[in-house]
Amino acid sequence: MFSIFKNIFQSKPKAVLKDFSDIAVDMHSHLIPGIDDGSQSNEQSLEMIKRLDELGFKRLITTPHIMSGGYDNNTLIIQEGRDKINSYLSNNSLNIEIDCSSEYYLDGHFEDLIKKNDLMPFGNNYILFELSYMFRPSNMENVIFELSLEGYRPILAHPERYNFLADKSLKEYRKIKEQGALLQLNLFSLVGGYGPRAKAIAEDLIKEGLVDFVGSDLHKPAQLGYFEKLLESQALMNLIEQSNLKNKELLA
Ligand SMILES: [Fe+2]
Repeated sequence: MFSIFKNIFQSKPKAVLKDFSDIAVDMHSHLIPGIDDGSQSNEQSLEMIKRLDELGFKRLITTPHIMSGGYDNNTLIIQEGRDKINSYLSNNSLNIEIDCSSEYYLDGHFEDLIKKNDLMPFGNNYILFELSYMFRPSNMENVIFELSLEGYRPILAHPERYNFLADKSLKEYRKIKEQGALLQLNLFSLVGGYGPRAKAIAEDLIKEGLVDFVGSDLHKPAQLGYFEKLLESQALMNLIEQSNLKNKELLA
């Protein structure tokens, strides 16, 4: 009995975030309907974008996949999709416009796009890229180098989700940053959205000050519930207090 009272009186009041306005910009999501594994309809996009607005995000940069043989998107398809969803939003009295870029899968096609200078950067020449979940691509260092050489600033999407990078020492992540890439954590990793291992690595990356950006990587309305839980995440609060989080830079 005594220990119960002791716990009640000793537990600190839980810190809670009011909303996501301190992050302000969501720079990773799949909100253009029908072109990748994200939103599948105008209605789904509307529901997700409306909620992101209510949650305090001020700017949404959506990033459909470009993956050769998987999601054969290109700049034109993505920009046309963006224009169509923006008209749908305005026809439904939603006073928000979304911007677009892409989440480029690191494959030969991506290397061709870099050579042809056919990329859609956002903010200060940022390019978001992702890797296979199965194996470490042998050309990753080279691609980061090529992008940097062309004046782009590469950002690795959800580093905490690649098992072949994840170990307690975080040395692979430090190496990638030394090579010139920035790291973008998925918000839902912090509330277990991708399992306990990704959550633990996400927390370690924050503790070590290695996170440059956060993104929702929102694909479907069923994931919206994670945002409520996130408002109570101590790790997210710690990250927001760090000066290295660059999301707000994208407001300009
Ligand atoms: Fe994504």
